[in-house]
Amino acid sequence: MQDIIRQLEEKRERARQGGGKRRIDAQHAKGKLTARERIDMLLDPGSFEEWDMFVEHRCNDFGMDKQTIPSDGVVTGFGTVNGRLIFVFSQDFTVFGGSLSEAHAEKICKLMDQAMKVGAPVIGINDSGGARIQEGVASLAGYAEVFQRNIMASGVVPQISVIMGPCAGGAVYSPAITDFIFMVRDTSYMFVTGPDVVKTVTHEEVTHEELGGAGTHTSTSGVADKAFDNDAETLLSLRRFIDFLPASNREQPPLRPTPDPGDRVEISLDTLVPDDPTRPYDIKELITKVVDEGEFFELQPDYAANIIVGFGRMEGATVGIVANQPMVLAGCLDIASSIKAARFVRFCDCFNIPIVTFVDVPGFLPGTAQEYGGIIKHGAKLLFAYGEATVPKVTVITRKAYGGAYDVMSSKHLRGDVNFAWPSAEIAVMGPKGAVEIIFREDIGDKEKIAERTEEYRTRFANPFIAGHRGFIDDVIMPHNTRVRICKSLRMLRGKKLENPWKKHGNIPL
Ligand code: HXC
Repeated sequence: MQDIIRQLEEKRERARQGGGKRRIDAQHAKGKLTARERIDMLLDPGSFEEWDMFVEHRCNDFGMDKQTIPSDGVVTGFGTVNGRLIFVFSQDFTVFGGSLSEAHAEKICKLMDQAMKVGAPVIGINDSGGARIQEGVASLAGYAEVFQRNIMASGVVPQISVIMGPCAGGAVYSPAITDFIFMVRDTSYMFVTGPDVVKTVTHEEVTHEELGGAGTHTSTSGVADKAFDNDAETLLSLRRFIDFLPASNREQPPLRPTPDPGDRVEISLDTLVPDDPTRPYDIKELITKVVDEGEFFELQPDYAANIIVGFGRMEGATVGIVANQPMVLAGCLDIASSIKAARFVRFCDCFNIPIVTFVDVPGFLPGTAQEYGGIIKHGAKLLFAYGEATVPKVTVITRKAYGGAYDVMSSKHLRGDVNFAWPSAEIAVMGPKGAVEIIFREDIGDKEKIAERTEEYRTRFANPFIAGHRGFIDDVIMPHNTRVRICKSLRMLRGKKLENPWKKHGNIPL
């Protein structure tokens, strides 16, 4: 018995040492934490229950039978974040470069199966050289087993990937399927083929960072949702982020008591929209003044910034916020912003999170780049996402709501539950100038006449009342009352029940 206990302790200690002091020092020298240090920082102190510490690989080729390290390059288990259950796996770069063996994959799969059964989020911390080269196809099979679970878990439990080192080749597809990807600047990268292969095939010279660093994926490709400066900042932000989400699709998002009253008025909002309809303003000011305590967790802030998405709370309950940003491309919808917002709307709908939409949209972005790039199909994604969503939907039109973009942005016609407009709202097929130049084309040379007609059109159509007459908006509200009216609407909508017709699944225009 004493022997077994001693062996147990020795094995535990060996597992804790990972790839040994030299490799741990190398990890630290790169500014990275180890797999276990990351878990400790992410979870509540003392809450981590580790599984499968004694798992070892079963490979005998290339001398691997003489090199085994308990845990086999990934630390798995469960614990809590602010008291709420979370499953986590953390790849250990100090053990065979965190590479994925058959046994390593089995540990991740076991964890995911359990998370699905109990209904709790899975956080995957990625720091890996990819497939365990010595294992060949067994490793590839392991990846696919993980992918299959990512797919089955999608929409059932939130899945978050944190990239804290290399993530290359087919290995990128597990994070890609998950709901959110967080990256660390300078120490993490993701790409399907690395700089060497790129050089051979396309003759482009590009660094790891340029090809797949955090900057690239949060601003150019849109693959990642957020970038942070180091491991600690990433993990602490993740703790804050996870607090917005429900544990699974069977639950409502958590309620967090707030001292911020639901009937708070915000007088400064009355002057947010400039008198000149062509002048931009920052829609983020509206968002932060409306949500509880000004706390807004924005996602993809540097990508497709003409639309803003993120989480806030209203009277303690999580809401997903989507808002056109007049400061960027005048708030037009384009390919990137449609895809960005559509994916966010679908996440909210999967996980019972009400959606609040702020609209100031002059239409879809014109041009050959957009048309050739497929704006027809991509714009339809956002339309589809809003139209299929059954969660509570509250919409506020602050200024422009023109053309097809009016329909898309959570309009009444796409089952918007409560649709408000500010007095400054202009709900029309297009802006007054464009409209007049089409209807009165014969007068185009007569500046005075055109100005007169434009004013006439503006008075007649550029207001919220025509839509109001038809009940397409439920009320015209004073900007300072926006929080009050949204809170009341969300309270009313708490018992909302709406089901889409039975189907195997829809066919969103991918
Ligand atoms: C086994 C690996 C490994 C791997 C790294 N190591 N990658 N062992 N399989 N895939 C080991 C190294 O031998 C080394 O062991 C240790 O991990 C650290 O690696 P270094 O190269 O010293 O570290 P660094 O210089 O930081 O470079 C990291 C790296 C590099 C860029 C990730 O190791 C690398 O290029 N690795 C190979 C990447 C790769 O080609 N993977 C397969 C891709 S295909 P020692 O004992 O010296 O510490 C793929 C397909 C997935 O992943 C398909 C899914 C469908």
